[in-house]
Amino acid sequence: MRILVTGGAGYIGSHTVLELLNRGHEAVVVDNLVNSSEKALARVEELTGKKPVFYNADVRDAEKLDEILAKEPIDCVIHFAGLKAVGESVAKPLEYYDNNLGSTIALLYAMRKHNVKHIIFSSSATVYSGDNKVPLSESSKTGNCTNPYGWTKYMCERILRDTATADPTLSVVLLRYFNPVGAHPSGRMGEDPSGIPNNLMPFISQVAVGKLKELAIFGNDYETPDGTGVRDYLHVVDLAKGHVAAIDFAVEHTGTSVFNLGTGKGTSVREMVEAFERVNGVKIPRHYAPRRPGDLAEVYADPKKSANELGWKAEYGLDDMVRDSWNWQSANPNGYDTED
Ligand code: NAD
Ligand code: UFG
Repeated sequence: MRILVTGGAGYIGSHTVLELLNRGHEAVVVDNLVNSSEKALARVEELTGKKPVFYNADVRDAEKLDEILAKEPIDCVIHFAGLKAVGESVAKPLEYYDNNLGSTIALLYAMRKHNVKHIIFSSSATVYSGDNKVPLSESSKTGNCTNPYGWTKYMCERILRDTATADPTLSVVLLRYFNPVGAHPSGRMGEDPSGIPNNLMPFISQVAVGKLKELAIFGNDYETPDGTGVRDYLHVVDLAKGHVAAIDFAVEHTGTSVFNLGTGKGTSVREMVEAFERVNGVKIPRHYAPRRPGDLAEVYADPKKSANELGWKAEYGLDDMVRDSWNWQSANPNGYDTED
């Protein structure tokens, strides 16, 4: 199939493009490179021997999108494009609502005009309300988001659902990711955040490589086995494969379907840091700091529905995640700006 991948130069998008090409799909990437590098796509080509079609364009640009879809016959869309930094979304809510909702709406208009009937959307575990019991299943309560980024995901889910209700021939798959980490095992592709990373794994990797001095562990007084926060970390290659499974599902179903993509296993910050040190033989200087506002004690998925209906299960474990993160970071200390 021919898949339109918005945000396909980004962290999860580029790993997914690689999996699509390896499975014999074709990929047409639309990305404005606001948070990514075209080099990621060059690495996809290096690893697969296949070149994804690339358009440097903003998904909100309706005219450009129309032009692309007029030229490129598309069977299915995977919509990764969006802004994703929680803290930045609090400071710049309008930019987040504009980009994340605007791109989704423009894309749905273009799909309607060009008769494209399948869309997979990058949603997040952040849409689940903080007062649920873990593990979180797809029927757990949503809403009460703690930041504008989370609300954009919540609202995009709503927009997609309503659009599928209005057009019963449409197929919408909402994928709620837990915590994607790791990198391609080749060490040629990985996460390349700009500035100081907000997320745990890139922060640890940058401490390990000497770019940052010390990790602050946000809170050691949570009601968790070792007092530090627990999350469901998931290898980015597993996550990418989840999208391939979602395409197969989308072409066989209409209406809206929701799936968690997580491992079902919780890992604490302390366990993560200790695994990184043990597997990679490096030291991670660290200290305990106050809790980060808005953080929950424990978040992990119930992944049964994805296993039963998508036929997808995470295969990589924590040791693979820390090994591949370090493999990428140590070989590319400046991400895609590192000289080859
Ligand atoms: P990323 O920033 O690496 O990728 C997003 C890509 O979209 C980037 O390449 C960026 O340049 C592009 N983009 C942004 N706005 C655009 C626009 N208007 N037009 C065209 N391109 C645009 O982020 P990622 O980690 O790969 O995340 C991909 C998707 O998954 C995002 O929607 C994100 O919100 C969602 N998600 C990510 C996580 C995570 O922890 N990484 C968790 C849950 C959900
Ligand atoms: N943490 C630290 N120190 C750091 C960074 C993080 O101790 O420097 C801790 C956090 O307190 C938390 C855990 O590490 O306990 C994970 O934090 P991340 O920032 O890596 O991930 P979150 O679970 O907070 O959020 C991530 C994404 C969100 C997404 C959510 C659910 O950033 O966008 O997963 O998918 F919505």
